Amino acid sequence: MIKRIEGKAGLKGTVISPPDKSISHRALIFSSIAQGQSRIEDLLLAADTISTLNAMKLLGAKIEGYGKKKRVPGFGAAYRNYLITGKGLHGLSEPATFIDCGNSGTTTRLLCGLLSGNPFFSVLSGDESLNSRPMKRVIQPLVNMGADIRARASDSYPPIAIRGGNLNGLKYDMPVASAQVKSALMLAGLYADGETVIKEPSLSRDHTERMLSSMGASIIEEVTGEVSAGGNPIGAAHVIRIQKPANELSPFEIKIPGDFSSAAFFIVGALITQNSRITIKNVCLNPTRTGLLGALQAMGAIINIKNKKIISGELVGDLHVNGKQGLRAIDVNESWIPLMIDEIPILCVAAACAQGRSEIRGATELRVKESDRIKAMAKGLESMGIEVEEFEDGLAITGGTMKGALIDSFGDHRIAMSFAIAGLSASGITEIENGEEAVKISYPDFFQTLKRLANG
Ligand code: S3P
Repeated sequence: MIKRIEGKAGLKGTVISPPDKSISHRALIFSSIAQGQSRIEDLLLAADTISTLNAMKLLGAKIEGYGKKKRVPGFGAAYRNYLITGKGLHGLSEPATFIDCGNSGTTTRLLCGLLSGNPFFSVLSGDESLNSRPMKRVIQPLVNMGADIRARASDSYPPIAIRGGNLNGLKYDMPVASAQVKSALMLAGLYADGETVIKEPSLSRDHTERMLSSMGASIIEEVTGEVSAGGNPIGAAHVIRIQKPANELSPFEIKIPGDFSSAAFFIVGALITQNSRITIKNVCLNPTRTGLLGALQAMGAIINIKNKKIISGELVGDLHVNGKQGLRAIDVNESWIPLMIDEIPILCVAAACAQGRSEIRGATELRVKESDRIKAMAKGLESMGIEVEEFEDGLAITGGTMKGALIDSFGDHRIAMSFAIAGLSASGITEIENGEEAVKISYPDFFQTLKRLANG
């Protein structure tokens, strides 16, 4: 289905960002291997996290919704809160069928790590996009730890068949900073004899470290060479040591904070449209996630953060953004990328509305996300009349005047939402192919929220 967006005067009103996707996945997986009952309040209700919820049920965890239900576009009424009866570290059971990870790379990679430690047979598979995403990055180190893993195309892509058990600790230098690979190895480390030492070239999102530590896992972290830009730990190398726990992991209670990656679309939407005035409430401001704030500030944006507090071990706050702000071009290099890995598409939209030529480099990872996001952004912005130069590891964008166009979302949620926001500041109509279907992955009521703010 095609979604139509018309250029608008501005965005006005208050948004509560949907619950964080990364934290929701982890809360479901980790509570399933805790000993006893955990409580998750405000789970993200979207296709990716529902894939994880179904996977953990298939592996034997008891997951029951309670309290009020919420209507979620495309999913009907669903519980927001859940009680999870964990099976303990060694209590998961062999699934009777394959595990459908849908579109979710996080489900697939984290479960590769978890299932490598469990002595049974399991198969992970997903949709066309997922089954073409590279998995050797997690399979290889897990095989080195002792797991028996086979996958399509010389162990490169899903379906992935795993027979876990008998792991040994590993010392592993990750070639690319990746929270998914890091988390998979940490989960395997919970089952390995000896110490697992993981080094990532620069700090990626650290929700796994925070949550597993709070459950009593033995995790020692060392961050070196920290350079602060906009308050963020840019380019800092990170070493994690994890040991098989002597005791079972403790259950926990968590209230999932709002997702900065979802808030990012409306932050940029407000910055690039006339007379905008929005508040985005309850957003997780974990510094490993908020690189975009530093980038937008360097472009001249003023974003006010109020009401900061710690909720379930994460910094949370309300963001106030007014528009239209005159943005300047920016150069973003490799050291920034892990802190804004999912926000590069919307940063490209900000760059298209800024004065001058912006360059984003060191972002090769974007080519293997839910779509090739470098190609998708270059193609879409060009069809809106923006001058773009594409590199293997990024793109250069010269700010200009955008005109409405028919945009291919490549079925990718973040591409669809980025171009819906671009459409707000374009002349005429912007149409997004498969937009409504795509946003179900992380933000099912994105278009309803956008319409409300645009009419605000
Ligand atoms: C995620 C990590 C990132 C990110 C993805 C979610 C996570 O992937 O792009 O959307 O929850 O760990 P990589 O770790 O592969 O960079």
